[in-house]
Amino acid sequence: MSLAPHGGKLINRINLNYDVTEVKAEIQLDTIAFADLELIGTGGYSPLEGFFGKGDYESVVQQMRLADGTVWTIPITLPVSDEEAGSLEIGETAKLVYQGEVYGVIEINDIYVPDKQTEAKLIYKTDETAHPGVKKLYERGNTYVGGKITVTKRSEKTYPENTADPVDTRKRFEEKGWKTIVGFQTRNPVHRAHEYIQKTALETVDGLYLNPLVGETKSDDIPANVRMESYHVLLDNYYPKNRVLLGVFPAAMRYAGPKEAIFHAIVRKNYGCTHFIVGRDHAGVGDYYGTYEAQELFDQFTPEEIGILPLKFEHSFYCQACGSMATAKTCPHDKEQHVFLSGTKVRQMLKNGEYPPSTFSRPEVIETLIKGLKAVAK
Ligand code: ADX
Repeated sequence: MSLAPHGGKLINRINLNYDVTEVKAEIQLDTIAFADLELIGTGGYSPLEGFFGKGDYESVVQQMRLADGTVWTIPITLPVSDEEAGSLEIGETAKLVYQGEVYGVIEINDIYVPDKQTEAKLIYKTDETAHPGVKKLYERGNTYVGGKITVTKRSEKTYPENTADPVDTRKRFEEKGWKTIVGFQTRNPVHRAHEYIQKTALETVDGLYLNPLVGETKSDDIPANVRMESYHVLLDNYYPKNRVLLGVFPAAMRYAGPKEAIFHAIVRKNYGCTHFIVGRDHAGVGDYYGTYEAQELFDQFTPEEIGILPLKFEHSFYCQACGSMATAKTCPHDKEQHVFLSGTKVRQMLKNGEYPPSTFSRPEVIETLIKGLKAVAK
């Protein structure tokens, strides 16, 4: 018996035999909505069956719950341009088009103009466009379309070996005999601190689902294809094969910190994970959120409402005096003993072909990243 999906039932809104030829109305998807369409269809976003209508939207923005009370913290919306909005009608079905191809349809049951400033302030805790998630929010269309979707065509798999729908991961976990599985979200290469918290969790659970986000990220994050190479190298050299599964998470990054952490956890529950790692400043950017604010937000809900156990980790680092990875919970030494490199500093070093110390990141990982980034820059 595997863990129940959010809302109790794994949603499946895929019908590859759906005939779209008679459907006239059309909506253009951006990269974020394209990823969301597929995640709704495969049940990654269970219990969602479509893009938010006004009721769910306002309820999630104001109260972190769908209109029926189910916990949900990130609006899953379908924004359209004013011009497109004028051509659409409630009650009709529209094709969902991405880069010239139809990938699905939506049965439109709502067309509404959101208050984006309120959405920004409540979801991202800021309306500054310096925040990459807020910037994106304001760049997207000004009218939202709500309604149930059907996926009519699957997207090309960029990483076929590491692409799995929730039904697939649930099956894989069962085949492996894993009863407890910890999910790990990342938009970065896996450095020693990430490895440490993953392996600490692995000491008590059956398996690790390494589930890097490969959807849209901000431009200075390391591209997903370069990261994917580095995950393979790391797993091959430092992890027991039979304890880890690597699969991509196709969603876009929102950088919404605490609210995105809850969303990330719930989606991993849908993939079949029983535990989810939440470390320092999960899904954060700049100084918009407190270091442990994401962890604290879990406490506003009952464990039953979330349905997946957050494993909360303190800021971890390599301590020269301990000669090992540690956190303030396990290390008595001063900061001077701790290896700390900011993300910006690391990116700069990688760009210049410089190796951060092996106490920060495995040399094989660094080598792959330097090579990959060089290839991207060409
Ligand atoms: S995220 O934006 O995808 O959350 P990142 O890839 O940096 O970012 O982090 C992945 C997970 O590891 C998150 O749960 C984050 O809180 C955690 N994490 C990252 N670095 C550390 C660290 N040094 N110590 C503890 N947890 C960390």
